[in-house]
Amino acid sequence: MTKILELQDVTKVFHIGSMISRLKITAVDHVSFHINSAEIFGLAGESGCGKSTIARMILGFEEPTSGKIIYRGKDGKPVAGKEVWRTAGVQAVFQNPFETFNPLRQVEHYFFEAVHNFRLASSHEEALARIDKALEAVGLSYKEIAGRYPSEFSGGQLQRVSIARSLLTEPSLLIADEPVSMVDASLRMSIMNLFRELIERFGVSVLYITHDLATAYYVCDRIAIMLRGNIVTMGDVEKVLVEPKHPYVELLRQCIPEADPRRRWTTKVQLAESEQEEYLRVGCKFAGRCPYVMERCKREAPRDVYVDGVLVKCFLYE
Ligand SMILES: Nc1ncnc2c1ncn2[C@@H]1O[C@H](COP(=O)(O)OP(=O)(O)OP(=O)(O)O)[C@@H](O)[C@H]1O
Ligand SMILES: [Mg+2]
Repeated sequence: MTKILELQDVTKVFHIGSMISRLKITAVDHVSFHINSAEIFGLAGESGCGKSTIARMILGFEEPTSGKIIYRGKDGKPVAGKEVWRTAGVQAVFQNPFETFNPLRQVEHYFFEAVHNFRLASSHEEALARIDKALEAVGLSYKEIAGRYPSEFSGGQLQRVSIARSLLTEPSLLIADEPVSMVDASLRMSIMNLFRELIERFGVSVLYITHDLATAYYVCDRIAIMLRGNIVTMGDVEKVLVEPKHPYVELLRQCIPEADPRRRWTTKVQLAESEQEEYLRVGCKFAGRCPYVMERCKREAPRDVYVDGVLVKCFLYE
């Protein structure tokens, strides 16, 4: 299997607050994982655990404080302030399609603009063919979008249009940060199925970021679960979610009604400590909420261990 993208020991530190009360937040704390070609890799966890920060670093909007992001075997370090590798090969699908497009602009302009910017065609006919092909991949056609404004589409349709726009450059990786949370529940699965179809047809990979374990379970091959900047467990989606090893996943699963991972996870996990307290913890970040907490967990950070092929960061397994 080919690795499309690899994060090696990536850390991102933010400094917030005034000069006097400056607070250091390690939003992403020594994170390593890779995404294979033609797979959906999930990144899940509660709000604020660092998912979007990872997405922003992969897309080059944010630079890691330390660590490496390797795309197709090449270090993705920005060159003279410009990402050299991000442009065509890695594309983003954002949460709210209505924010992706300017309401006063016909959506087709975005397509022609991308064709122009990436020099994807040498004539108008060629551009049209390219645009039609991208739209066809999401079950639409150029005819269906021509002359239309964002408000003339449903949320689900517009998200498809946005995905088609990302496909124009024939990327090898789509970064989808909460791509269906603004989409009607009835259409959510059709977008998830579309991702699967794109993988089968074009061999793209998808980083699917979500706080919704049910859709993650439905669509992902492998998954990483984050807690306060750390990946606490990672592996085959079935093994990570259905036979949870890390106590945090057990807790997350209890928040899915009727313990059915296919159902949507709506309730927010009860926070035992403030977000800041948890971030600043020296030991395991979950120690304050863990039913199995030991003295050691409060003092030391657990190492990564492998249990049944699944990475688990927990002293229960050391
Ligand atoms: N530009 C920034 N400056 C300061 N702090 C930031 C910045 N961006 C993110 N953070 C902080 O980093 C942490 C992780 O944020 P991030 O947006 O990555 O979380 P998330 O997992 O995507 O959450 P959500 O599920 O709510 O989207 C949060 O505590 C957030 O406040
Ligand atoms: Mg986010």
